[in-house]
Amino acid sequence: MTAYGSFPGARPRRLRTNPAMRRMVAETRLHPADLILPAFVREGIAEPVPISAMPGVVQHTRDTLRKAAVEAREAGVAGIMLFGVPEDAKKDALGTAGTDPDGILQVAIRDVKAEVGDELVIMSDLCLDEYTDHGHCGVLAADGRVDNDATLERYAEMAQVQADAGVHVVGPSGMMDGQIGVVRDALDTIGKEDVSILAYTAKYSSAFYGPFREAVGSSLKGDRKTYQQDPANVRESMRELALDLEEGADMVMVKPAGPYLDVLAKVAESVDVPVAAYQISGEYAMVEAAAEKGWIDRDKAIAETLLGIKRAGASMILTYWATEVAQGISAGR
Ligand code: PBG
Repeated sequence: MTAYGSFPGARPRRLRTNPAMRRMVAETRLHPADLILPAFVREGIAEPVPISAMPGVVQHTRDTLRKAAVEAREAGVAGIMLFGVPEDAKKDALGTAGTDPDGILQVAIRDVKAEVGDELVIMSDLCLDEYTDHGHCGVLAADGRVDNDATLERYAEMAQVQADAGVHVVGPSGMMDGQIGVVRDALDTIGKEDVSILAYTAKYSSAFYGPFREAVGSSLKGDRKTYQQDPANVRESMRELALDLEEGADMVMVKPAGPYLDVLAKVAESVDVPVAAYQISGEYAMVEAAAEKGWIDRDKAIAETLLGIKRAGASMILTYWATEVAQGISAGR
């Protein structure tokens, strides 16, 4: 008798014979609701400003941000992650603009909320680097190092002003120890028990953040290696994960996505909360740049990166292509 467990009886290619067959047996599918759009809004500009290292992405005006939110919602995107870019003159050592109720991020949260209400999950970056003149994610001690516990006090205040502005989810991204617990307490203290926390749990010190620094006009000199994780490590992420869950994270994130799919898979296997992955600025830039040179098929490459991230276990993907990809899925492309 032919052995069907091995060749020539077994022929895996049978399930790849045509598009309909391949579609039927696909193990992973992207859905618009898997996607979250990160968006930048800059204070004091009349027209959107293109970000040169991220072709197709802009620093929005308040007005174009509202339009982008509507467009995302219409495409079926799940949420929008907002980043504020204050006027240069408003940056200072403490990142005061980040806790000003009328600071650009808070204003943008209110704008987007007024526009889309609860039809799109509104998220905000909870970090100081967009607001500090030195560009670090926290406040500095006298010796120039980032002061963990002093930074936590700033994060608590940021969480409260963002919640007051109406955000649904805050995303603490500064990698300070204890940040999730402090943010949870700060929210609960002002009666914002319903505001969720998406913890940047495994956030690596990555070269792929480069274009983002332009996007938020960051003046960082040096690096973030005393707070962001070493790309060499994965066990360390499991420790960060345990702490974040213990401190009250509702959702956790791995970032960047593409170069850290092993971390993502491991985190996704071991938790019972939603797991997000952030396909960051440099991941975006690489694909766009290679496509511009005609070296890869842009749309296929984008789809493949996102499928890979989902296959590794992400329940949500932050990607600058969110709206475009969601529109494509709905159109059957
Ligand atoms: C910190 C923050 C960063 C990104 C998101 N939140 C920058 C950093 O940690 O250096 C990067 C996102 C991207 O590169 O697309 N506020």
